Amino acid sequence: AHQYTLSIIKPNAVAKNVIGAICSRFETAGLEIVAASMLHLSREQACAFYGIHQGKPFFDELVGFMTSGPILAMVLAGDEAIARNRDIMGATNPANAAPGTIRADFADSFTANAVHGSDAPDTAAVEIAFFFPEGVCPRPR
Ligand code: CMP
Repeated sequence: AHQYTLSIIKPNAVAKNVIGAICSRFETAGLEIVAASMLHLSREQACAFYGIHQGKPFFDELVGFMTSGPILAMVLAGDEAIARNRDIMGATNPANAAPGTIRADFADSFTANAVHGSDAPDTAAVEIAFFFPEGVCPRPR
């Protein structure tokens, strides 16, 4: 099915100047970028976005990292976009990320793992609305 998913290029990947390399992988995999926003999250925004992780041992480190520099939030569109994006990102823990995946190539640690991608249609809808309340810009199909 045609889906939308939220992608974030995280501060460590932006700092490495690999936005283009990562977006190229999305496009090569057949995903279209239908919304994009470069921003530097406030602590309040990061806590709200990662609200489901509040109280977990890695939460403070996660919020500190996600507010350490600019990010690129995007909406990717395509057939089975959620699973397709997760395939090309690789495992959340880069130690387990398959060779050739974005995290295998650009992650620095479990926290600084280069990219985020929505994990299911319901969370994708919430995450897309968080960054793009005005909606996305679909291509003519
Ligand atoms: P992400 O997909 O953005 O969702 C939450 C993030 O928290 C995750 O990527 C990791 O970067 C980080 N994370 C999740 N679990 C752990 C963990 N056990 N240790 C450190 N960081 C984690």
